[in-house]
Amino acid sequence: MKKKVLVLSGGISKERLISLDTGLQVAKELKKNGYRVKISEPDNNLKKNIKIFQPNVVFNALHGQFGEDGYTQSILESFQIPYTHSGVIASSIAMDKEISKKIFIKNKIKTPKYFTYSYDLPTSDLIKKIKKKLKFPVVVKPLNEGSSVNVYICNKKNIIKTLTSIKNYKKVMIEEFIGGREIQVAIMGNKKLGAIELRPKRKFYDYKAKYNSSAKTEHIIPVNLPSNKMKQLLDIALKAHKIIGCKGVTRSDFKFYNGKFYILEINTQPGMTKLSLVPEIAAYKGISFLKLIEWILIDASKKK
Ligand SMILES: Nc1ncnc2c1ncn2[C@@H]1O[C@H](COP(=O)(O)OP(=O)(O)O)[C@@H](O)[C@H]1O
Ligand SMILES: [Mg+2]
Repeated sequence: MKKKVLVLSGGISKERLISLDTGLQVAKELKKNGYRVKISEPDNNLKKNIKIFQPNVVFNALHGQFGEDGYTQSILESFQIPYTHSGVIASSIAMDKEISKKIFIKNKIKTPKYFTYSYDLPTSDLIKKIKKKLKFPVVVKPLNEGSSVNVYICNKKNIIKTLTSIKNYKKVMIEEFIGGREIQVAIMGNKKLGAIELRPKRKFYDYKAKYNSSAKTEHIIPVNLPSNKMKQLLDIALKAHKIIGCKGVTRSDFKFYNGKFYILEINTQPGMTKLSLVPEIAAYKGISFLKLIEWILIDASKKK
């Protein structure tokens, strides 16, 4: 008999809409193939929904804060129900760009230089610090968002205004800007699934470039890299997946500049619509959307 799957989507993060899309598409694909499916928000009704529906497994289609950062995972642990993707600790480490960067650096995985800023320096000192440590332009980003929400490329002229506009984060990351190509890698369990290159028409791979088809970001697969470089890239992604302690499917974001790969982050719950990057890489490798989802569900039942 086919499994009962509770698909968890929506939530209260800034990636709510993307998550609803992921959830809907995963649910549709499963229903079409004979699974019994219920979609739920991660709200006060979750416990009741689980009690009434009695799912065999939860497909966690949430993205961003509270859904991808260990919070929901710890609730699911307390319900003692198998759930997809990484466990509590790996999820919370991967969602925190500062902590994961420290782990990357410790393990000799190249990542852009950075420092964090807690709005505690006079602006002239901040500008001096950037000039000394990073040089302009720099990238300003929150520590725990996704989908490029509130990620900005800044120069000396606009950085203070940008920082002021996102002051509610209290602490942000200021990172060295890396030019060159943008390549992302999917890992599936302990397998290097493959890579895809993104060529945005916009200034960088921002929210619109990711989700508005009219922004016309080009997806390039296979990625044109010499085989030794491709191997190097896939090896780094697998190493990142392992040292953070991830499980299931992850997607790591890289910049490739001057022959070197720089990891930007690792995503423990990458987008799972039919048009998302991991399903696109999987399809290229001959793994259908259904097969990918089914693998994720089977993997969920294995110990974290
Ligand atoms: N240091 C950087 N240099 C150049 N571009 C960057 C840098 N950091 C981020 N970006 C651009 O911003 C996008 C989003 O940044 P990322 O760190 O992956 O955050 P998010 O979690 O929002 O996806 C990247 O895909 C890339 O296009
Ligand atoms: Mg990213």
